Amino acid sequence: MVLVPGMGDDVQAIKAGVLEIADIFVINKADRPGAEHTQLELEGMLSMTEELKPIFRTVATESTGVDELVEHLLTLKRPERTNVAQIRGIDHLAIAVRSLDEALPFYVDQLGLHATRRETVPHEKVTVAMLPLGDTRLELLEALDATSTIARFIDKRGPGLHHVALRVANLTALAATLQAAGIRLLAEPQKGAGGHLYVFLHPADTGGVLLELIQD
Ligand code: CO
Repeated sequence: MVLVPGMGDDVQAIKAGVLEIADIFVINKADRPGAEHTQLELEGMLSMTEELKPIFRTVATESTGVDELVEHLLTLKRPERTNVAQIRGIDHLAIAVRSLDEALPFYVDQLGLHATRRETVPHEKVTVAMLPLGDTRLELLEALDATSTIARFIDKRGPGLHHVALRVANLTALAATLQAAGIRLLAEPQKGAGGHLYVFLHPADTGGVLLELIQD
């Protein structure tokens, strides 16, 4: 928070809760008369708070005190980068269907979407058809056989929304961070349709939705 001496009610304003949120106090234009008074008043106010908060005096036009302020700012711990910053968007929404041949005409003929070439992912026991739309895609999944997770999903709940895939910048790093935080991965990151690296997170750790992370 930056104060200027001689404003009269500046320290009074701090009483309105600002004292609690500000981490550093700077009295700028500290060459003005009243700087000493502002500092004393501020110190008096700050002595009532629990944390020790620094007060800097600067004259911005002459750069007085600015180096000290910058030096202090550089010693402060930067907030941890959150995982959110690594999420680029929704890569696709995946729908489990009994048959691509039966499901696709609705999306292609009725909705006018374009389906890309079908691709079989043997280790997931699925055949995939992608339907690009805007910045994202719909992924239709058909089971290769009765032991496929898609077949088991349909047996249990019927066809429908199966998972949501988020596009991430660095999947390996994010997966490791999540795992360290106790989030369960259903398998190690591996390559799937289109050669993209992907991993599934346990629905019990994501609010009940099967979440896939996929790398650009
Ligand atoms: Co997917």
